[in-house]
Amino acid sequence: MKKKRRIKWKNVLIVIITPMIIIGGVVMYFNGYLKSVDIKENTLKDTTSVNDDNVIDETTSVLKSAPLDNDEFNTLSDGEYLTSTGYTLEIIDGMAYVDGNLIVNKTYSLSESYLPTNLYQNITSDRCVNCLDKEVMNNFKLMQSDARSVGLDLYLSSGYRSYKYQDGLYNRYVLVDGIDGADTYSARPGHSEHQTGLCFDLNEVADSFATTDEGRWVNDNAYLYGFVIRYPKGKEDITGYKYEAWHLRYVGKELAEKLYNNGNWITIEEYYGLSSKY
Ligand code: DAL
Ligand code: ZN
Repeated sequence: MKKKRRIKWKNVLIVIITPMIIIGGVVMYFNGYLKSVDIKENTLKDTTSVNDDNVIDETTSVLKSAPLDNDEFNTLSDGEYLTSTGYTLEIIDGMAYVDGNLIVNKTYSLSESYLPTNLYQNITSDRCVNCLDKEVMNNFKLMQSDARSVGLDLYLSSGYRSYKYQDGLYNRYVLVDGIDGADTYSARPGHSEHQTGLCFDLNEVADSFATTDEGRWVNDNAYLYGFVIRYPKGKEDITGYKYEAWHLRYVGKELAEKLYNNGNWITIEEYYGLSSKY
């Protein structure tokens, strides 16, 4: 007599479900792994290349469109305002100037299409280290050469960055640290001085730069070449950014010496009486 085979449903379930659990686990693991690699790579400050695949929309919605957004100043005339320290803030083509110096901070921004002119090297990419204003580059070279003569190595690690590049960069940081966190160290697109061709980052973009021989020398001598430490230590509430020993902005020798203030840095915001707030 033929023996009737009984299907053991328990075994069938084990045979079907076990591989599904294993395959699902493997897929989820690699998905998470790839995401973490993506974030880590783009946390490497602006030295990494950025693609815009993961750019989120959230940040653009909090951007200010108008460069002048304060009622704190008296209007002198159309496009001219008296600042809290008695300077004249001029708004020309949507950009803010005081004493001929272009102001870019959290309050005052550049349009997406703004491109610097009078460049040492023409812009051919969204991130171009040598695409700096000619006067800025000449003064950097002088500073570099004088630093070299005392055994120090200064080099440019970031120069011009386009609006689009900054957008990608900032949004990567938002993915890692959230908007509030990213806002303490990265400018939103249109609000970065790197779009002006008037600033650069030196050497390793890291907090440790401040205590290197190069970092100390730069802090004490950069003003002689017309550069200022744009985000000085202890001025975070004024600039809106943490201390960046490596980020130098060119303002010319006269103003740089005033802002150096014998080693007690004053910010552009304090000197000109301006805000830096989103
Ligand atoms: N790290 C400065 C604030 C910038 O992103 O321009
Ligand atoms: Zn910088």
